[in-house]
Amino acid sequence: MSTPKRYTITAALPYTNGPIHIGHLAGVYVPADIYARYKRLTGNDVAFICGSDEHGVPITIKAKKEGVTPQDIVDKYHKIIKDSFVDFGISLDNYSRTTSKIHHETATEFFKTLFDKGEFIEETTEQLYDAEANQFLADRFIIGTCPKCGNEESYGDQCEKCGTSHNATDLINPKSAITGNVPSLKETKHWFLPLDKHEAFLKEWILKGHKKDWKPNVYGQVKSWIDDGLRPRAVTRDLDWGIPVPVPGGEGKVLYVWFDAPIGYISATKEWAEREGKNWEDYWKKDDTKLVHFIGKDNIVFHCIIFPAMLKAEGSYILPDNVPANEFLNLEGQKLSTSKNWAVWLPDYLQDFPGQQDVLRYTLTANAPESKDNDFTWKDFQARNNNELVAIFGNFINRVVVLTNKYYNGVVPEPSDFSDIDTETLTKLKAYPQVIESSLERYRFREASQELMNVARLGNKYLADEEPWKLIKTDEARTKTIMFVALQIASGLATLCEPFLPFTSTKLKNILCYSTLNKETTWTEVSTQDVLLPANHTIGKGELLFSKIEDEQIQIQLNKLEASKKANEAANKKVEPQKDTIAFDDFTKLDLRVGTIIEAEKMPKAKKLLVLKVDTGIDIRTIVSGIAESFKPEDIIGKQVTVLVNLAPRALRGVESEGMILMTENAEGDLVFVNPDKTGVINGLPIS
Ligand code: 2FM
Ligand code: ZN
Repeated sequence: MSTPKRYTITAALPYTNGPIHIGHLAGVYVPADIYARYKRLTGNDVAFICGSDEHGVPITIKAKKEGVTPQDIVDKYHKIIKDSFVDFGISLDNYSRTTSKIHHETATEFFKTLFDKGEFIEETTEQLYDAEANQFLADRFIIGTCPKCGNEESYGDQCEKCGTSHNATDLINPKSAITGNVPSLKETKHWFLPLDKHEAFLKEWILKGHKKDWKPNVYGQVKSWIDDGLRPRAVTRDLDWGIPVPVPGGEGKVLYVWFDAPIGYISATKEWAEREGKNWEDYWKKDDTKLVHFIGKDNIVFHCIIFPAMLKAEGSYILPDNVPANEFLNLEGQKLSTSKNWAVWLPDYLQDFPGQQDVLRYTLTANAPESKDNDFTWKDFQARNNNELVAIFGNFINRVVVLTNKYYNGVVPEPSDFSDIDTETLTKLKAYPQVIESSLERYRFREASQELMNVARLGNKYLADEEPWKLIKTDEARTKTIMFVALQIASGLATLCEPFLPFTSTKLKNILCYSTLNKETTWTEVSTQDVLLPANHTIGKGELLFSKIEDEQIQIQLNKLEASKKANEAANKKVEPQKDTIAFDDFTKLDLRVGTIIEAEKMPKAKKLLVLKVDTGIDIRTIVSGIAESFKPEDIIGKQVTVLVNLAPRALRGVESEGMILMTENAEGDLVFVNPDKTGVINGLPIS
């Protein structure tokens, strides 16, 4: 095992304009939490830091849309996000926010230091301006074609498709996201961070220094940006929501959100250190501290190029040791989308699956988008729970606990001599901390979660091979030894599963009555100690660790997604263009009557047709109508409908149709009758 170290572990500050969804969890927060828990459990000094990213254009856009202030928006979502992280067991040492006083002070001071050191270029340039909105267009206020990949919906500061970060003026065919207008150019002064000046250092530090241990997806992206050549980036904006630019000439301008947000890691550490009586500088300025940033792939450029350049320019900070960015998670084959409500929201999950946080944590880890984009499906979620957590992990623990209670009233039995199988099994158990550690040290969380499951598999196989339930009848001493060994595996699992399945770990420790032992087993002790759960220790009766997830529960979730899909289809439905205008005289040719359907039956061998008898007031006539897929004959008898009675008769499948029933479509795209209410009004229009 490695010697203990100090770790500053950060998880990307989420934008505070919506709740957290499974994409955020799989990409950032679950792996970060596993890593932080594992580092604490292996005796390291850990500061696990996050907070709300409360500035930036998306928040102001949302506020405008909802007719509230940006502060209202961030207050609302800060609470929702913070509470859901706590409920989900994300073990942050501090969850701060970038509208806090300490953050404003820290970011202001950081900017001033760089300014005083002459690290910025101050320049008046022409920037995109929307004359109608009377506003400069920065970041998400502008949409255009990405100069690198051709994505037509790139934002002003970053293309979400290829991840490139650019200046708004680089966009091809830019359009204002506020008015849709083509912007004009207007002069304004801004402060630029000359990334080109830091190119040599970045090359040396990333390309030479970290080549081997950074994830290939991260290293590859960074290399390609550096190879393309770096240019100065504006770090201030003409906006009114953000941290005011604290230098002469900065009036009415704010810091670029991506300048202040990563400084949020520092201010959140300061806030935590003050509370805990620690020195924040140990976590940011001491060379033996390891700084690890957990982020999604769209944040790579900011954490691997811009923030390190800022830290380097400031001069007194350490640089990230690693930036294990993940790829994206899709949902049921489609890209996650907040605006399309194509997501599984954490607060909804916590409500629909109470007490089952670990099931989602496990599914997202076992299927994490580590080296390529991956798909979350509810069926896979159900299978991971039913076939792995219930059938392997839960089943092993249940057998051990039930048999210990049945045979020994819950008292851990005294073993006799170990057989070769026993020794081999205990040796395998002892190897698992290093096996799992080796995966975690390489940020391979999927692999680590499968190794954890292999510990439970080891236990199941041991019990299945040794069959204590048979031996109890013939060899009591041997049965005691088997149960003793199985209990050691159960105890090892309680410790090893803690980073991955923290709620299960707590439950299992309760079942094994850890509180009556002198101390909890540490991660390392699973490897080094021969006995984890001593003979004569009494365990509890137990409870099920996991329960089966039924098809109905999954169907409810699939139905929710189906509803989102329908709502999106309705919103995006292309409306047929209006037909050519007709003269009033043409309209008066139509003889429209209110009639009553008095008979209705299906046309034999025709899926779509119903044969109706309609009382039109002037006669009773037969009308063939193509509505069989929308209405059952028995449901429409007696219905009042509008009939075009002077349409030329036409034979349909041998039946002469003498008119037409008028139909229309509602907003959901369902067919509805154009029918009058009791006062003779048709869909709101009086009929004469
Ligand atoms: O992409 C995002 O959600 C950003 N709010 C991440 C910010 S990370 C950091 F630098 F603060
Ligand atoms: Zn692009």
